[in-house]
Amino acid sequence: MAEIISGKIVSAQVKERVAKETEELKKRGVTPGLAVIIVGDDSASQVYVRNKEKACDEVGFYSEKYALPASTTQEELNALVKELNGKKDINGILCQLPLPSHLDDKEVINLIDPIKDVDAFHPENVGAIMIGDYHFLPCTPAGVMELIHSTGVSVEGKKAVVIGRSNIVGKPMAMLLLHENATVEITHSRTQNLADVTKTADILVAAIGKAKFVTADMVKEGAVVIDVGMNRDENGKLCGDVDYDGVFDKCGYITPVPGGVGPMTIAMLMQNTLTAAKIQNGID
Ligand code: GUN
Repeated sequence: MAEIISGKIVSAQVKERVAKETEELKKRGVTPGLAVIIVGDDSASQVYVRNKEKACDEVGFYSEKYALPASTTQEELNALVKELNGKKDINGILCQLPLPSHLDDKEVINLIDPIKDVDAFHPENVGAIMIGDYHFLPCTPAGVMELIHSTGVSVEGKKAVVIGRSNIVGKPMAMLLLHENATVEITHSRTQNLADVTKTADILVAAIGKAKFVTADMVKEGAVVIDVGMNRDENGKLCGDVDYDGVFDKCGYITPVPGGVGPMTIAMLMQNTLTAAKIQNGID
């Protein structure tokens, strides 16, 4: 039977740490500021953005929300990012993805000043992560690492398998595991005999976007199973990429959905915004 890794508990610890440091920063006249841009009315994105604003309040940050209509042009969006790049009270800029299909997310990401890129999506930050010399780690993979650390299981020398190869999760996830000396394998939709690979994982990270895709026969006995997925099952109920009930008795540790990786992504965003504020104000 597995131990549940609580993203609620671990994220609260991260936010508490950030809140304490923010209190100290404020005494020095610095209040970390985050601007969140959302374009259109995707309901999931609206929930995420609301939770990000709420977290800013909790840790004592200043925040601005820019809710733009779906009809926003690339020029208008680019102009907003440039304006925010120049604002002294804004240390972090986040443009919620996905954008409506007529807008180019790469163009927007490339425009964000890398030192305000708290998502760590800018090519300069992605490159910095690749060589292990970075200010920010991408929020979801960084949150997953915190969850793994919370188990007390050492990553060093372990076999880690990542399912999914997105720029936001899969690829940087593999890199962070590698930085901690795991032996990492990235798998994806074209991987042959996927279960044979996933069954070798001491640490299994599922980031595919398919409801209950990872079943017990794909999991090694005692493995740490991290579920990055956020899907709806056949009854419309929130579920992850892992068949939680089926895998629970086989693995050693497992994250629930909701209440696992989700809250960690937001906590790490707060951590990155704090880091951005410190760097921009010359504070170590
Ligand atoms: N959409 C889903 N996850 C994320 C994220 O981590 N950052 C941004 N900007 N958009 C997202």
